[in-house]
Amino acid sequence: MRAIVVSRWLKGPDDLEVKEVPVPAPAEDEVLVRVDSVGANFFDILMVQGKYQIKPPFPFTPGAEFSGTVVRASAADPRFKAGDRVFGSTSTGAYAEYTTAPAAQCLPIPSTLSFEQAAGLYITYPTSYAALVLRAGLRAGECVLVHAAAGGIGIAAIQVAKALGATVVAAVGSNAKFDVCRAQGADHCVNYREAAWTQRVLELTGGRGADVVVDPVGLVEKSLKCVAWNARVVVVGFAAGAIEKIAANRILLKNVSVMGVHWGAYARNEPGRIPEVWDALFRMAERGQIAPVVYDPVFHGLDKAKDALRAIASRASHGKVVVKPAAAAPRL
Ligand SMILES: NC(=O)c1ccc[n+]([C@@H]2O[C@H](COP(=O)([O-])OP(=O)(O)OC[C@H]3O[C@@H](n4cnc5c(N)ncnc54)[C@H](OP(=O)(O)O)[C@@H]3O)[C@@H](O)[C@H]2O)c1
Repeated sequence: MRAIVVSRWLKGPDDLEVKEVPVPAPAEDEVLVRVDSVGANFFDILMVQGKYQIKPPFPFTPGAEFSGTVVRASAADPRFKAGDRVFGSTSTGAYAEYTTAPAAQCLPIPSTLSFEQAAGLYITYPTSYAALVLRAGLRAGECVLVHAAAGGIGIAAIQVAKALGATVVAAVGSNAKFDVCRAQGADHCVNYREAAWTQRVLELTGGRGADVVVDPVGLVEKSLKCVAWNARVVVVGFAAGAIEKIAANRILLKNVSVMGVHWGAYARNEPGRIPEVWDALFRMAERGQIAPVVYDPVFHGLDKAKDALRAIASRASHGKVVVKPAAAAPRL
């Protein structure tokens, strides 16, 4: 089969190489999946450069999020059989025609979603749901400020917040992304590259400010200028590259709670909450309230993965960037 293979730390996605390698052998608790679509992530770029917290031994195939069809069931975990449509995650190995993953890290694709949509579901949607519901305790009628609102986390947060009856102010880095956010249900849009964006949020909320902030960028300090009394600010990530230091007096002044969310760590710390989150998301998917947005173009062929990752790095993309490796995958 063909797979991206990394044998040394790379300068960047341009150096990615596709090679012929054996189909991986699943462990007892794993399924073998014929990959239909890979969900591309910014951390894929960091991983091939050796700048990510996880540094796999060489040679390795990057890629953590996928959707596809089970071709070999797990011997130890019977939840999927050959032919099932699944999406899931693996620590490495998704940029390939076949990948292995623990059956426990796969889920059935909801009938309302395509393979391309499902490839970007596993990380972003539960993270945004956990941020809004488990952490911030969002209530219907409240106002949510979503940063990087046209990104993977951001679009998921808009859709989940609207499904829960909130008003959404979408904040992005270019006016060109306003239409993307409005199409997903955002009530208002602001551009955080404009100096007066916090003032604009205050105007849009009648001077009150946002009740909840979802921040995958690193805009907590600035957001505290436009939050309501008793606001909850959820730290999701640092897409801007810097880890903020926050002046504590601003947290005190408006009774604000600043909190983090680390979805991947629920498996270790609160596994009981994971089914609750997926049940809620599947119900929203069945009702048509959530549907991942796939960036156009979809990147066909593993050779195009470098273009996919370039689109993410340049901030040109919106929604989920998807690579389809299996155009001519050998049938097993
Ligand atoms: N805590 C968790 O459990 C968890 C789970 C998943 C992801 N995350 C983190 O959440 C963040 C967002 O993930 P995502 O999947 O939504 O990513 P994404 O789809 O690639 O979107 C990231 C967006 O961040 C914005 N951004 C702002 N400043 C930027 C900068 N200097 N460079 C690049 N982008 C910048 C860009 O939108 P604009 O151009 O509109 O500004 C970009 O589209 C990442 O840092 C990720 O690691 C955390």
